[in-house]
This record gives sequence, structure tokens and C-alpha cells, in this order.
Amino acid sequence: MNDWKKRGIIYEIYPQSFKDTNGDGIGDLKGIIEKLPYIKKLGANIVWLTPIYQSPLIDNGYDISDYTKINPIYGTMDDFNRLIELCHEKEIKLVMDLVVNHTSDQAKWFQESKKSRNNKYSDYYIWRDPKSDGSAPSNLGSAFGGSAWEYVKERGQYYLHLFAKKQPDLNWESTEMRQSLYDMMKFWLDKGVDGFRLDSISLISKPNVFDDVPIEDNKNYGAYYYGSSNGTSLHEYLQEMNREVFSKYDVITIGETPHTTPKQAQKYINLEKPELDMVLQFEHMHVDYGEYGRYSDLRFKLSDLRNSLVKWQNSLTWNTNYLGNHDQPRLVSRFGDDDKYRIESAKMLAMITMLQKGTPMIFQGDEIGMTNVAFESLNQFKDIEAYNTYEFLVKKGLNKDIALKIVKNKSRDNSRTPMQWNNEKNAGFSTANPWIKINNNYDKINVNETLRDEDSIYSFYQKLIKIRTKLKVAIDGDFNLISADDSSVFAYTRILKDRQMLVIGSFSNKKVKFEIPNNIRNKESKRILSNYDDSPQNLSDIIYLRPYEGIVFDNG
Ligand code: NOJ
Repeated sequence: MNDWKKRGIIYEIYPQSFKDTNGDGIGDLKGIIEKLPYIKKLGANIVWLTPIYQSPLIDNGYDISDYTKINPIYGTMDDFNRLIELCHEKEIKLVMDLVVNHTSDQAKWFQESKKSRNNKYSDYYIWRDPKSDGSAPSNLGSAFGGSAWEYVKERGQYYLHLFAKKQPDLNWESTEMRQSLYDMMKFWLDKGVDGFRLDSISLISKPNVFDDVPIEDNKNYGAYYYGSSNGTSLHEYLQEMNREVFSKYDVITIGETPHTTPKQAQKYINLEKPELDMVLQFEHMHVDYGEYGRYSDLRFKLSDLRNSLVKWQNSLTWNTNYLGNHDQPRLVSRFGDDDKYRIESAKMLAMITMLQKGTPMIFQGDEIGMTNVAFESLNQFKDIEAYNTYEFLVKKGLNKDIALKIVKNKSRDNSRTPMQWNNEKNAGFSTANPWIKINNNYDKINVNETLRDEDSIYSFYQKLIKIRTKLKVAIDGDFNLISADDSSVFAYTRILKDRQMLVIGSFSNKKVKFEIPNNIRNKESKRILSNYDDSPQNLSDIIYLRPYEGIVFDNG
């Protein structure tokens, strides 16, 4: 992998909620332009924009109706061109979200496809005949709830949608459809875009025959990914995409790969048959799943989180490392303590995540320790998944308050509320009422406040990013877990020849004793970073860690 990619620090922007400059309550491209110096100052060198294409926004832009147009709510193509130019001036790469598993039902391709069984676009989507009783071809469910099939009278057939009804799945078996997508990718790359995050890419190869599937997690339908995750022709398609498109440009490609094992993941980043640079996997996001799957009010166990992360570190030559993004609750609320130890735990979590081997991904707002939101009622949510899940849980017989509590705990809206820039009206995000509720804590947690404080979470991220981009051991060092059974501490080394970096993070809100294993008691090691200013300077045999204390030692 190229050096710039290895040194990449990805900053994910959720445009709707980043910065609004035209006073409509929705973030826009000009807002991103305005805040580029903020991202530069943080030290991130790759920006990933979630979808900004034309879209009816049923799933906040992951439902694209025109791949080569900018959604006017975000601005114009000129704004986008200017954004690329300014990113490049600042030596920041710009990565777009490529949603090619499905489109919006408003896309011209779908509008044509649904008209008949014999037009140019007929086989651009996945159509199947009903069962003999007229019901859906299989019991497959959609990721957002309900059946994954929808009937269309004109064709007398059902189409597949692994996500919302208004997000029909594309048929990758159609050579013409694939070529149309490759042309679209080149359109953006020719403009100077530096790569793609490929949405749901593990799902693009579908089975020929859709049989009924086993039903898990107390659900009413079979899991949406059943039969489609890592399907038979997936790698053929990705190799073709690489040959036709990516190999012709100097780009970074990150595949979002739900329901993929480490063994399957290796295939995507296999250098002999090039496909993608790295994958974005989810296994560690499952550590607090419950009876109904993702939506639960369970708290994770450190051992589960650590086992999962370590498994991936040990299995792949390169990972993407993250604890939060626009599809997850806020990381400090989920894995740390968003109350008494918010600052300490946010820093420790950043440290543990960003110093693992691979590309760190920071989601907007995590660098100032933004937290989950105290949503008061269902109608404050915007995410389609929140509504469908609430309805599902209530139908399952859960008390309404409990159903709401579970949705509040895990809703994706927790991380989608506006960026908190200052303590003024609407947190400095917009002059108008924002499209989604602002977190009430913006008077205390905001960028202005943060930038005034030398000891802030933001400045801790800056230091971490320096370590991660400048120290070779942090980039190429081998990853080794230590004290695998410790119930409170996650610790590991990164080793490159004689160089040893030791990363220790306590996940406890109490004081804990941590014994440094014999083989890594390197006396030359000095503290290079910690989230308490009086953490030990030198590596001793035993360390007493305070709540969420995190320390990095280095012998260089
Ligand atoms: C993953 C995206 O990150 C998520 O936000 C979206 O809802 C689904 N893919 C469907 O595109």
C-alpha cells in the first residue's frame, strides 16, 4: 500500500449535520469548506463524506436517485469542485461514499426497470416471481425491518431490497449495469476525488435462488444478509472493478463489509488479485447485541471487545480501526463513561483504537467527546431504522417505555445530531432550526470550548495523530496483545525491530493494579502520552491505573 494511504487518518463527515451556511437547518458543502482548517488543525488527512448525491433522503442519502448530481440541499457541483480543490491545497484527500449495492427507487434505472420485463433496464435490479400462492419469493427480511421483497404490479414480480423498500438492490449479474457503475466511478475520479468508501459491498453478489432461510434473533424474517453476504461472484466483481477503475488511479478504497469473517476479509485485500485497500468490518460492533440483535440495552464486556479486535488485528495485514460512526451510538457513551469520566474515557478510547495497526477513522464530534442524546420521545428521531425497530419491539410485546429505551440506547441518530461548534444559538451549527434535535449538552461540549483548553480531548487527538503519522512503529509495528485475561485493562505492544511501543488503557471507573509482563519491561521506555498529566514517566513493573487511565510508553 502507498505511503500516503498507510499514513492516512480518516475523518468522517456526515454532511447534514456538520455545518450549515445557508440557513436551512441542513449542513452543506460550503460549511465543510468553512471548517476545513479545523480538520487540518486536528491532523486528519483524509475526509470521507457520507453520500451527497441527489437523493430523496429516505435513508439519509444512502438512497441515490442520480449518481452524478449533487443534492441541491448540500450545494452545487461548483461547490463540490471547490471543495476538492481546497482539500488538495491543504493536502487532504477526499473520499466519497459509493453506494452501489442499491439505489433509490426514484433513480431512472429503477423507474424504467419496474415498467416491464423487457426494456434496457429490466435486469438492472433483482426481480423474482411470487411463490405459487402469490406471496414473496422468500422469507428474507430487510435490514430495517419487514420483508426484503416488494411487489410491483406492472411486472407481476417482486424486487429485492435488503434495506428500505425505497432502496432496491442492483443486479450485479448484469454486465451493462456494472459498466454503467464503472463509468460513474470514473466520472468522480476524473474530477479528482481520491477514493471511495464502498457501502455494503460484501452484499452485492446475490444468490440465484432465494429459498426460505432460518429465522434468528427472535425476528419475524430471515436475516437480510443471508445468502447475499460474500456471495459467489463477489470477488470476481471486485477484481473487475479494480481492473476497470481503481487500477487506473491513485486512490484509496475501503469496503464496508457487514457480516464478514476475517478469513473472508483477507480476500478483499489480497495483493495478488487486487480488489480493495482495506475493509471496514463490524464484528466488534456486535459485542452488546441482545435478544433482538443490534437493538438492546446491554453493556459490552471488555473481554468480548478485546477478543474481537485482537482477532482482526492478528488476521489481517491491515485494518480500519474505529469505535463509532454514523451508524453507531456515540463511542464515549457506549464504551466509556459519558458522565463523570467523559474526558478521560474519550481520550483512552481514542488511544486504544488509533494505535492499533491499520487506518484510524474518526467520526465528526468524537474528537470533542460528543455523547449520546437524551431523546425524549419517538418523534424526535429521524432515522427510519429507529421507527421500524420501535414498532417491531412493541409488536413483540415489549412495554412502550422499554422499547423506547432500547431505541434511544442504540439509535443511529445519537451520532447524527449537529456538530456542536459553540454555545450560541443552535450550537453554532445553523441560524435555523436544525433538521434533527441538537444535543442539549452543547453549552458545555463544543468546539470553541475545546479549542480554548490545551488539555482537551481534541488536543489529545492531535497528539495521537502525530504519533500515528510520524512514528514508524505506530504504522508498521507488529501488534501483540498482552495480559489477555485482564478484566479491566486492554494493553498491547507494537514492535518494529528494537522499537517497542506499549499502549495501556483501563476500561474501569475504579483504580486498578496492572502488572507489566516480564518480557516487555523495557527500562528505556518513556511515557509519550497519557490522559492524566501525572501518569508515570517511566515503565515500572506495576502500575496503578486510575479510572480510564491510558498511557503510551515508547523506547525510541
Ligand atoms: C451502511 C450505511 O453506513 C448506512 O448508513 C446505510 O443505512 C446502509 N449501509 C444502507 O446503505
